[in-house]
Amino acid sequence: MAKQILFNVFEMSSAMHNSHGLWKHPANERTRRYKDLDYWTELALLLERGRFDALFLADVIGVYDVYQKSKDASIRDAVQVPLNDPAFAIPAMASVTEHLSFALTVSTTYEHPYAHARRMSTLDHLTKGRFAWNVVTSYLPSAARNFGLNEMIKHDDRYELADEFLDVSYKLWEASWEEGAVVNDRENKVFADPAKVHEINHEGRFFRVPGPHLSEPSPQRTPVIYQAGSSPKGKEFAAKHAECLFVGGPTPEHTKQSIQEVKRLAESYGRNPDDIKAFTFLNVVVAETTEEAEAKFEEYKRLWSGEAAKAQYGGSSGYDLSEYTDLDAVFEYKHTEHGQSRAASLTKDNPKKLTVREVLESFDTLKRRFAIVGNPQQVADGIQAYFEATGVDGFNLTHMITPGSLVDFVDLVVPELQKRGIYKTEYAPGTYREKLFGQGKRHLQKGHPGAKYRHAEKSTV
Ligand SMILES: Cc1cc2nc3c(=O)[nH]c(=O)nc-3n(C[C@H](O)[C@H](O)[C@H](O)COP(=O)(O)O)c2cc1C
Repeated sequence: MAKQILFNVFEMSSAMHNSHGLWKHPANERTRRYKDLDYWTELALLLERGRFDALFLADVIGVYDVYQKSKDASIRDAVQVPLNDPAFAIPAMASVTEHLSFALTVSTTYEHPYAHARRMSTLDHLTKGRFAWNVVTSYLPSAARNFGLNEMIKHDDRYELADEFLDVSYKLWEASWEEGAVVNDRENKVFADPAKVHEINHEGRFFRVPGPHLSEPSPQRTPVIYQAGSSPKGKEFAAKHAECLFVGGPTPEHTKQSIQEVKRLAESYGRNPDDIKAFTFLNVVVAETTEEAEAKFEEYKRLWSGEAAKAQYGGSSGYDLSEYTDLDAVFEYKHTEHGQSRAASLTKDNPKKLTVREVLESFDTLKRRFAIVGNPQQVADGIQAYFEATGVDGFNLTHMITPGSLVDFVDLVVPELQKRGIYKTEYAPGTYREKLFGQGKRHLQKGHPGAKYRHAEKSTV
């Protein structure tokens, strides 16, 4: 059987995600409905009809206010603000679906691992093990200020903190409650056996957590771990912790190299590189005919907002594009404490040096390279070519408008991919980890740093 492509939908609990300016499109329901539970449950049903693996929920903690040193461009154009907490809709979506999984973004910089671990266990319980955590370290200075810091914790230090945060989390999820601790024995009046519920006694550089964990073990114990940073420090972190890797890059070749690098590093940590699935972005504009798809793309192009795109880039990279006035100068890499792979993608990772003019123009218009545009066969050809060129396992499908872009994908592209034998027609049973890695693999794989804390694992070493 041909390798099957995994598909997530990339979403955010906000009036707009990454389709800058398209909140203005009259058919973009999210603009007004993202606050309604019905929007999310209808979306979940649509995605399950399309056999999507997961809904991936991005999140940031803060307003984008680096561009023009102001929040105005972001607020005016709904650049990931207003933004609700994405977690609350998950149980409602889980209740109307059977197989769709949910990947939730939570920052290790602005949470505490003890409370966070309980929230993740709760969501794993309520979804019956269809749950993943996208670990991010955050890049917005406004978040730091709102958490009482004068400036952001430095980029590499955020990863150090995240590493210990995960260590505490694994101890709570894997080591605190033994299998069989909950006996629910009415006759002997024992709900849970205290001898099988352990303190974790974590004492580290950033956290002191004695435990025990508040929740009983959830179906997967540790949720499936996603991570999306790809700076050198980010890759190291991914190689150690990630089971799903979200990679972007200026070219398919660059994306391929990043995946291979993380897999090689994972091996050096004693992990099996096949225990990591890699995903990249995908955006599609599809219609029954090429002409209709092109017409839609032109319509989206007219509504595009360059100001919004620059505001988002400012926060995620730390580069304020309003300061770049010499249009013929080369757009050079400079170190920032924001997201470093984002900064590198237009500078040192780009195959050719760009001028300031070229960079500004790339934000000002919706470029063809951001989307595969065409009829269902053309789009499927594009997806297949990209899949083969990058060596990814799947895609996080973003959208121009919702639910319209996703309805088009489900109705037009999914049947074409299924006909080609590269997309499932039925879901596999089990938890999210089992659906990704195979039946019986509902817990962290051997070699993963969290697996060593499991009692069953400890007794066999
Ligand atoms: C595809 C993708 C999705 C991301 N989603 C989020 C997100 O939802 N929230 C967030 O704070 N950061 C997000 N990030 C940022 C990364 O998690 C990371 O913080 C950022 O890339 C900086 O890390 P780096 O310097 O190692 O690249 C995303 C990055 C990528 C590439």
